[in-house]
Amino acid sequence: MKTPGIRPSRDVGTLLEALPYIREFHGRTIVVKYGGAAMTDPALREEFARDVVLLKYVGLNVIVVHGGGPDITKYMRRLDMEVEFVDGLRVSDADTVEIAKMVLIGKVNKDIVLRINRYGQAAVGLSGDDGNLFRAAKQLATGGQDIGFVGRIEKVDVDVLNHIAQDYIPVVASIAADADGASYNVNADEAATAVARAMGAYKVMFLTDVEGWMRDPADPTSVISEAHADEVEAALPSISGGMRPKLQACIDAIHGGVTFAHIVDGRVPHSLLLELFTDAGIGTKIRAAR
Ligand SMILES: Nc1ncnc2c1ncn2[C@@H]1O[C@H](COP(=O)(O)OP(=O)(O)OP(=O)(O)O)[C@@H](O)[C@H]1O
Ligand SMILES: [Mg+2]
Repeated sequence: MKTPGIRPSRDVGTLLEALPYIREFHGRTIVVKYGGAAMTDPALREEFARDVVLLKYVGLNVIVVHGGGPDITKYMRRLDMEVEFVDGLRVSDADTVEIAKMVLIGKVNKDIVLRINRYGQAAVGLSGDDGNLFRAAKQLATGGQDIGFVGRIEKVDVDVLNHIAQDYIPVVASIAADADGASYNVNADEAATAVARAMGAYKVMFLTDVEGWMRDPADPTSVISEAHADEVEAALPSISGGMRPKLQACIDAIHGGVTFAHIVDGRVPHSLLLELFTDAGIGTKIRAAR
């Protein structure tokens, strides 16, 4: 007797389509930058956690790196603090960075960890301070303006990640301290690339709020599905908004030995799985120069 709702040929077809990809990725490191809609929509948050657990179970070494800008802004406003950005970077005095640490490490990171735990694979949350994972240095805005405790990552020590990843899914908050112990806000795209390079990752995947890198940002049908790093580099001066640091992070990842960088629409349920395990994929895939 047939079970209602089950379509054997289609369901088995999907699994069989995934098989060569599962074989290709088995044992490889995949770094996922988690942000945008996938992080704010409650249903998508659940799907994301489930997808990450599935990746671990099929043998990928998955590492999650996250920011949480909207949450930081929300708590700053509750405290009547001024919110200001220069070149897309949050102007961060000592109080701002303290709030960013509390929100990212205390709230956002633990929310992600708890959700992954519930789907049956334990996660461990950490920031750049744990196990000396990141060392930061102060970063100035492009015009040379001092924007406070905004850092770039100078050094990554992956020893702690390698230990944790043996048994758990590491979830990294993009906060880092300098050699004197002062804390900095770090752009999460940059943090994901730093982790991917240092881990010798096969892929870094950026979940975002758009279909991918688009030729015309106003036209979702203009998504560039595949590009070489040199093409991205040539286009970079004309790119604006949050896509610019993201594409820069893709180029840096490829130059640092990561085989593929993907920009994936986090608004689509299971976009991670679709990009990894289906022939068509979704979003933009960037590889080394020809
Ligand atoms: N050519 C382009 N293609 C796609 N998006 C573009 C392009 N140019 C500019 N953008 C903008 O880049 C944005 C994506 O970057 P953004 O920093 O806003 O998101 P995110 O990095 O996913 O999230 P978060 O910064 O909160 O972690 C898009 O929403 C879009 O407005
Ligand atoms: Mg961004």
